[in-house]
Amino acid sequence: MSIGSQADRVIIFDTTLRDGEQSPGGTLNVEEKLAIAHQLAPLGVDIIEAGFAVASPGDFAAVKIIAEQVGTPEGPIICSLARAIRQDIQAAAEALKPAARSRIHTMISTSDIHLKYQLKKSQSEVLAIAAEMIAYAKSFVDDVEFSPMDASRTEPEFLYQVLETAIAAGATTINIPDTVGYCTPKEMGNLIQGIREHVPNIDQVILSVHTQNDLGLATANALAAIEYGVRQVECTINGIGERAGNAALEEIVMALQVRKPFFNPYFGRPVESDAPLTNIKTQEIYKTSSLVSQLTGMLIQPNKAIVGANAFAHESGIHQDGIIKHRQTYEIMEATAIGLPENRIVLGKHSGRNAFRTRLKELGFELNETDLNKAFNRFKEVADKKKEMSDWDLEAIVRDETQIQIESGFQLEHIQVICGDCTCPTATITIVTPDGKILTDATVGTGPVDAVYQTINRLAQIPNQLIEFSVQSVTGGIDALGTVTVRIGHQEGIFSGQASDTDIVVAAAYAYINALNRLYRYLQTPSQTPVSNTHFSQKA
Ligand code: KIV
Repeated sequence: MSIGSQADRVIIFDTTLRDGEQSPGGTLNVEEKLAIAHQLAPLGVDIIEAGFAVASPGDFAAVKIIAEQVGTPEGPIICSLARAIRQDIQAAAEALKPAARSRIHTMISTSDIHLKYQLKKSQSEVLAIAAEMIAYAKSFVDDVEFSPMDASRTEPEFLYQVLETAIAAGATTINIPDTVGYCTPKEMGNLIQGIREHVPNIDQVILSVHTQNDLGLATANALAAIEYGVRQVECTINGIGERAGNAALEEIVMALQVRKPFFNPYFGRPVESDAPLTNIKTQEIYKTSSLVSQLTGMLIQPNKAIVGANAFAHESGIHQDGIIKHRQTYEIMEATAIGLPENRIVLGKHSGRNAFRTRLKELGFELNETDLNKAFNRFKEVADKKKEMSDWDLEAIVRDETQIQIESGFQLEHIQVICGDCTCPTATITIVTPDGKILTDATVGTGPVDAVYQTINRLAQIPNQLIEFSVQSVTGGIDALGTVTVRIGHQEGIFSGQASDTDIVVAAAYAYINALNRLYRYLQTPSQTPVSNTHFSQKA
């Protein structure tokens, strides 16, 4: 089925792996990108923007392997970004070759400010480049998306001209980026209406928006655009992306789901129609969100809409009273709709492997035997220290034990920390180096974590700077598991690591080793790991 014939719903274009990965410090390596793409497929996204193939050998490799493994005939369309430059388009086309259905997304800036200061080109030059490069992209694939970058700040008359030219040259999707997140919802609506009224061939294409979140309006702007006839939205899981990020997939999808009667008439449907407005399997949202958070190291703020830890928590007595009497008094959607389990069954140290496996399955984790064994052993260890193991704990354990391991990295063998008010915090640590040497050292620090990190640095000898350290409690209670997230900076980029344990100093050590291993791996094979943010200066 061609995507055009599906325009009676909203096409979800997921750009977590391209714009999302441009989040400062949200760098992903090829395996991590592939793992996310494998989850975006069952989530039901229509298009995966898998990267910017020309940006680095790592980006190229990621687009290619995602095209091979996820771009099956039944799978999503796989897309690569490309500036309106021959070399970019060639790289995109080459990387996308293995996909059953592929799209080249090409873009060029159109606003005066970009033309004058960045591109240093006239409007007529931009018009000619856009037409030529769209036609060139079309020589490789049928499905070509065009974005006039900074569209919301582009002179409307010129924007209409560029779009008409782009469609005549063969673009099949026209995407309108609010690149700097400047629009308000009303302006976005007017912008789309203006395009629909002034671009004569606009009905031949799918109209799309890409809304950045600089003023916190990304989701509102995308929804306003939908009211005005836009049928594709570009979004990311957890709203990650350049600067303040993008419109969050989960927010758009759940708004369309929960407020279906409001949106139905914009799709020419009766108010009461129950047919879905997107193809997203909403029960996969929570799992996808956790995976992206873990692999990018970008924590989800507790009050984040839909996927934040507090999104379904009721604290005030009045609200709790209402919920007990009738859920819908204070809840507009059920937690189960995004894949959170209905009954938060509590397992303990006496629970067996079967109960563990069954619960994981209910939570959406199907582990192979090796991972199941690792996770079960860890569960037993933690359950010995912690009386009750909630679903959140199980999830933290599974994520820890099944995270993509960096082959031949540093392994933490042993950690001992002494601290208190009458002693100097001291860490004694043993690690195994990538070449198999067992090394032990001890250091005094300003606190236990400082002592641990200084000791690991002395042992690993990889200079870096700790730029972020955070601890989140997985559940409430004094015996809760703590998840530590660290980001370390190096001249090559920012690398993150995460780990959970009932002892947060131990979690801190593992999280640091995980981040260090990602840096180590990059230093070993820089071409494998895209690291820098992708900047779009156009040097045609
Ligand atoms: O923000 C932007 O303008 C983009 C385009 C490439 C869609 O990311």
